[in-house]
Amino acid sequence: MASAVCGGSLASVLGPCQLRSPRRFPLKSRRTSFERRFLGQKVRASSSAFVETKQPSPLESTVDKEKLSSKQGVLACPICYEPLTSRGDLVLSVDSASGSTLQCGTCKKTYVGNETHFDLTATSGTEEYGESMAFSAELFRIPLISYLYERGWRQSFSFWGGFPGPEKEFELIKGFLKSVLGGNILDASCGSGLFSRLFAKSGLFSLVIALDYSENMLEQCYEFIQGEDNFPKEKLALVRADISRLPFASSSIDAVHAGAALHCWPSPSTAVAEISRVLRPGGVFVATTFLLDGPFRLFPLLRPLRQNITQISGSHIFLSEGELEDLCRTCGLIGFKFVRNERFVMISASKPS
Ligand SMILES: C[S@@+](CC[C@H](N)C(=O)[O-])C[C@H]1O[C@@H](n2cnc3c(N)ncnc32)[C@H](O)[C@@H]1O
Repeated sequence: MASAVCGGSLASVLGPCQLRSPRRFPLKSRRTSFERRFLGQKVRASSSAFVETKQPSPLESTVDKEKLSSKQGVLACPICYEPLTSRGDLVLSVDSASGSTLQCGTCKKTYVGNETHFDLTATSGTEEYGESMAFSAELFRIPLISYLYERGWRQSFSFWGGFPGPEKEFELIKGFLKSVLGGNILDASCGSGLFSRLFAKSGLFSLVIALDYSENMLEQCYEFIQGEDNFPKEKLALVRADISRLPFASSSIDAVHAGAALHCWPSPSTAVAEISRVLRPGGVFVATTFLLDGPFRLFPLLRPLRQNITQISGSHIFLSEGELEDLCRTCGLIGFKFVRNERFVMISASKPS
């Protein structure tokens, strides 16, 4: 059960907190209630407690610049985790993937970049062998789904899931990431790069790595970038990889964001363990997902079916903040915090310093 929720950076997102265990906040109008709740004045947070909120100031940061990871040297072989080297000086950016060759000095595998991204999956370069993931991962590899994702699919999360929408989510994310602003950020399971692009354009990070398993989602992200004037392409790199096998050196990443993705991962614990490995001490993980406690509380007979639903769909159903806290703790992350609106939950936890 999640207990100490407020304090630390959540307090700095939401202001001084007088609440230990915020629950669901049933409200009539989602958008305006969200503004009241998270970005406004004094808001109702549970039947018995209130949270004082204030707008987080993104630049009001407590960053220890000495500790920030460097832009270079983050890429590692997904097979042995040893550094990848390139012919010539490779500076990661949207444009540097095309035609690039990365090599692992230890296992000697070569990874070739294509027009849109670096393919750093363990299976990159296979000729005969093929494998497919669970439905929840394969779904997003379908070109039509990748195309529709930012053209209505993602927006629907606000109507049925209580997601506040990209701009407000971004404000909350920045609040959680105050201590690592100026460093690099991995947007894990970035989809078509909705948040990766916001991170890059904000100028708040030295490098944004947009990572997804779906090559078609990455292609969409590339196309959105090409369609924008003055996009800071030197701030962003697109990488195809499996969340369970991250192609980064241990302790090389300052921040990891995973929007609406935890429930899609084949093994959330393997994924969060990988995130914990690549985060540097003091690095911050922030993620959003759905909590489907409503139907399962209403119909307790559904509970035993949860495993079966996961096995069939590959999608993990989280029922409480406590489960997410336990997941983070068991993967070595501390200082769990969360904010919640209906089924939407944003969590944050850090790698111990
Ligand atoms: C619902 S989308 C979230 C996209 C975006 N982060 C957002 O906030 O809208 C979930 C993403 O998880 C990705 N995904 C699923 N399994 C994955 C895996 N094993 N490794 C990396 N990404 C994965 C999918 O390709 C998809 O783009």
